[in-house]
Amino acid sequence: MADLRTKYLGFELRNPIILASSDLSMSLDNLLRAEEAGVAAIVLKSIFEEQFLLEGGLDSMDKIPFPEARDYLQSRGLLSYAPAEMLRLIEQAKKRIAIPIIASLNCQSLEVWPKFARQLAEAGADALELNIYFLPFEKEVSSQEIEKRMEQVVASCHQVVSIPLAVKLPFQITSLPHLAYRLQQAGAKGLVLFNWFLETEINLAKRKLHYFRGHGQFSQVLRWIGLLAGRFGCDLAASGGIMTAEAAIKVLLAGARAVQVCRLVLEKGFPALKSLIEGIERWMIGEGYTRLDEFIGELSWKELSLTYPDEQAASGYFRLQYMKAYTGRFNARNKSDSQ
Ligand SMILES: Cc1cc2nc3c(=O)[nH]c(=O)nc-3n(C[C@H](O)[C@H](O)[C@H](O)COP(=O)(O)O)c2cc1C
Repeated sequence: MADLRTKYLGFELRNPIILASSDLSMSLDNLLRAEEAGVAAIVLKSIFEEQFLLEGGLDSMDKIPFPEARDYLQSRGLLSYAPAEMLRLIEQAKKRIAIPIIASLNCQSLEVWPKFARQLAEAGADALELNIYFLPFEKEVSSQEIEKRMEQVVASCHQVVSIPLAVKLPFQITSLPHLAYRLQQAGAKGLVLFNWFLETEINLAKRKLHYFRGHGQFSQVLRWIGLLAGRFGCDLAASGGIMTAEAAIKVLLAGARAVQVCRLVLEKGFPALKSLIEGIERWMIGEGYTRLDEFIGELSWKELSLTYPDEQAASGYFRLQYMKAYTGRFNARNKSDSQ
């Protein structure tokens, strides 16, 4: 038997697999099934600022900036997953489930984040995942302003709650290492790479734009986990396109301390979690590893780059890879490397 324990957000997890935030994690039944299937922690379905406001009654409902959002939440019955129910879910889960329960919050207004973060912490959540979603659309708003806002969100929540905070990040960030550093300074203990968005398509026959659920950005996740791991005081969790034990092992090698999965369970059900964990253990035994931390981050940039004197020199290495790709030498070299 191999020891799959890992540390994430200050918790000792029995293995690195976490059920990601989604519709799967909004009922006690499902939480119990996930725990039974072997996951080490669960991120609850995100609760949205608009839901809190709806529950606050008609006065606060007027604060929802976009009336169609209000109508949508009402028509889809999302009120039934309003805070009171969420608080009950956390309470029930804490009585019946031994693994950490991570609440997830998605707000818009800066003043609302800490208010609701505190409510979730008081309800008994073990940790909080800040699901910061934005689509940069306004031309007057710079990337610096957006990132500053993210930092303020983390700092304001950190001020009012003592439970660990993780931030689920979008992958379109100009300088992710810098942002990661600033978020850690603001109080983040963990970063989840990456958040997931609707993707855009055009139906030519109907001449219509539509949105669909994408498949996660596995190669981006792998790349950025590898580039960030071990360089900040933050634990990294991978999220996006992890459908097999091999994919989970890759993100662990890159430096993830935890692996969040969602679509795998949506497509194959809760038993797939057990197979995933068993697959990681089988691989470890086959490769002669007895503990997970013997190989977490083995292929992170930090481990591989010890020959580079500083980050600037390493940038030169990345530029070289880019040039090779553009001069056709990368593939030829790569082929022989993988043989
Ligand atoms: C139906 C559905 C609902 C989701 N809801 C949330 C949510 O409320 N909050 C959140 O942070 N992520 C949400 N996600 C994103 C997942 O947590 C995860 O990051 C994403 O699906 C990529 O991982 P995967 O490839 O393992 O599915 C949702 C995903 C799906 C498919």
